[in-house]
Amino acid sequence: MPTVSDILDSLDYGPAPEGTVEVRGWLAARGRFGHFIGGAFTAPVGLFDTLNPATGEVLAQVTQGTPADVAAAVAAARVAQPGWAALPGHERAEWLYALARQVQKRERFLAVLEVLDTGKPIREARDIDLPLVVRHFYHHAGWAEVLADQFPGAAPLGVCGQIIPWNFPLLMLAWKLAPALAAGNTVVLKPAEWTPLTALAFAEICAEIRLPAGVVNIVTGDGATGAALVAAEVDKIAFTGSSEVGREIRRATAGTAKRLTLELGGKSPFIVFADADLEAAIEGVVDGIWFNQGQVCCAGSRLLVAEAVADAFTERLRARMARLRVGDPLDKGTDIGAIIHPDHLARIGALVAEGQAAGAELVQAPAQLPARGCYCAPGFFTGAAPANPVSQREIFGPIATLTTFRTPDEAVQLANASCYGLAASIWSENLALALDIAARVKAGVVWVNSVNVFDAGAPFGGMRDSGFGREGGRAGMLEYLAWPAPAAVAEPEPAALVAAPDPTHPGAAGGIDRTAKLYIGGAQKRPDSGQSYAVRAGDRLLGLAPWGSRKDIRNAVEAAQKASGWAAMAGHARAQVLYFIAENLSARAAEFAARLAEAGQPDAQAEVQATIRRAFYYAALADKHDGRIPATRARHLTLVQPEPHGVIGIACPNAAPLLGLASLILPAIAMGNRVVAIPAQDMPFAATDLAQVFDCSDLPGGVVNLVTGPRDDLVAVMACHDDVNALWVCGTKAGAARAQADSAGNLKPVWVMTNRDWQGASGQGQAFLDHAVRLKTIWLPFGA
Ligand code: NAI
Repeated sequence: MPTVSDILDSLDYGPAPEGTVEVRGWLAARGRFGHFIGGAFTAPVGLFDTLNPATGEVLAQVTQGTPADVAAAVAAARVAQPGWAALPGHERAEWLYALARQVQKRERFLAVLEVLDTGKPIREARDIDLPLVVRHFYHHAGWAEVLADQFPGAAPLGVCGQIIPWNFPLLMLAWKLAPALAAGNTVVLKPAEWTPLTALAFAEICAEIRLPAGVVNIVTGDGATGAALVAAEVDKIAFTGSSEVGREIRRATAGTAKRLTLELGGKSPFIVFADADLEAAIEGVVDGIWFNQGQVCCAGSRLLVAEAVADAFTERLRARMARLRVGDPLDKGTDIGAIIHPDHLARIGALVAEGQAAGAELVQAPAQLPARGCYCAPGFFTGAAPANPVSQREIFGPIATLTTFRTPDEAVQLANASCYGLAASIWSENLALALDIAARVKAGVVWVNSVNVFDAGAPFGGMRDSGFGREGGRAGMLEYLAWPAPAAVAEPEPAALVAAPDPTHPGAAGGIDRTAKLYIGGAQKRPDSGQSYAVRAGDRLLGLAPWGSRKDIRNAVEAAQKASGWAAMAGHARAQVLYFIAENLSARAAEFAARLAEAGQPDAQAEVQATIRRAFYYAALADKHDGRIPATRARHLTLVQPEPHGVIGIACPNAAPLLGLASLILPAIAMGNRVVAIPAQDMPFAATDLAQVFDCSDLPGGVVNLVTGPRDDLVAVMACHDDVNALWVCGTKAGAARAQADSAGNLKPVWVMTNRDWQGASGQGQAFLDHAVRLKTIWLPFGA
């Protein structure tokens, strides 16, 4: 027994384990769990074990959900949904407050249960996960209260399928459930197979407070259960997990009306400039990559350190790492708990070995690991080449890579040399530099002189292989709401393309030489195929249009990528170009109307006038789509900044050849995007004529590119193209389905537009601007 003076001599920690009696009592009493469907637990059948990764002991048994179980849960949610949505917002808010309060009353119980099931340190579960869970329900209770005011005309989506991972089981449940319920949806949620217990405890809370049956349904099981939920009759899938599964879900939901948000992996840069407060940055690394054993999608796993301070930083990091306490997650002095599962530990080990084999050197803490259980000492790699698997792939464990850079430009280049785009952390005492870098890194969330700060009011989510969609705040609410479209105008199926015999022959169009060209990089271009197709109005041949192909799309995307100066222009300057387009089109209104009338378009005059109005409308909005500063945490300024996607591929509607095209191109470019558009297949001349208007309106070459031809095929090329950053698709159901499935490669967001009344209100508005940007959330320390 050490004496007090012994303890004061060594200043060592004594064990301080959190008690587990209450949780163990609950587990012993419950032992075997069924699903929670329609307000009650089903009988436990087809059971599998859930383990404590810190010890390997079996904690409980849960039911492997079958497709029939999923169908029953979806049916219960479907029955409950109209009643839930019909409640006044105030009543839904009261239910969410009740959930928040009940979780708050059980905070200690739930934290301990979470620790047993995940192996995360109790300090984190108690001080981070649980308070955020509670905050999420309170915050979203507020949204339920003010839904009608804040989102006028919005309706819930219906039944949402939600699939969550094992790293923050209860927190992810709260992130998913709270906005869905606030918006009036009902939910079927599937927790991860390794960590189902807090979700089941939460189900008990739902039952206790007598939440209306069927509003929340929990179905346990593995990936097969998840796949069954994706395939079920739900209106939305919200998924957090690996990019591989995210891609599978993208393909599985292609061609359905299911809305989709994907929050996937990351390989987030943690950038330390020479003028950073190094002590603070070292603590940042501890919170960045050693939080939750590095099993965090936004973990700062790539340390990029200015060469000038790299040696000092590495030495301090090594010393700090050696002091981290790895061990019993229930101990309040533990910094690093257990890895989630032996399979995952093996996965980490294999990737680390690959990294070493490829020449990187591993610096690992000399930690004494517990004799049993699933542990990994913290570490970091030095000398990992950019192509080394550990530089590219998500380790999802407590191991970072450390690379040096010389200039800010090189830091940005290294930061963006990843297929992911979830988060970034930037350390510098020079705010001008930090904000410049924040704007240039490809990430949905950027922390300045901080890391892993979250709040229910701040949008969270990524880009590229990190997925799309946002969770949290107003943006997160929008992912669970829809604005029912007014009566749609049927989108005519395009006629089959017929090749014209000799596109260059002056008489090919029946005496008139009307052979349009592609518009790429601000210049008229012949199609690579050398082919054209006949454009007809009934029996009349109107002219020949270029038969665009894969090569033309590639050229157009290249031209669009090069025109990046457009995004750097101020909204005001872009507005001037749009006004100029409007004026030039006005001057030629009669000519455009005649051309549309010749093609048999009804209301040709009205279509031209509406197009001119669109240009004025989006010119007006070009400098008015503001960001926000949501009220998040004290001592932080949280900027939510809209930024353009980059290059948007657009497949235009056949229904209104001029207005449809303008309705899509204009909001996209107003927000700073460049566009590759496929004009109406049956009547592309309105678009090719419009190119002449662009030419004389100071629109820089490459901002709008037009490739005519087989719309569905050309969209598929854009869906697969890595440099097309988002896709807007009007088209046949089959074409849209193919585009969505093919987009799984680089996981670009795809907006499939249902038929719209292009002449009416549904042809313009906020939704177009919202889809033209993605949000970047930038956290700045403020008033500390
Ligand atoms: P995972 O993506 O396989 O699992 C996440 C969830 O998806 C679980 O609930 C799982 O049952 C479900 N699921 C699996 N296959 C499915 C399918 N075909 N359809 C529908 N749902 C399906 O992640 P896993 O295997 O647990 O971890 C693998 C890697 O994923 C990790 O090493 C890490 O790199 C990454 N990961 C990322 C997370 C994040 O927060 N972004 C969380 C967990 C893992």
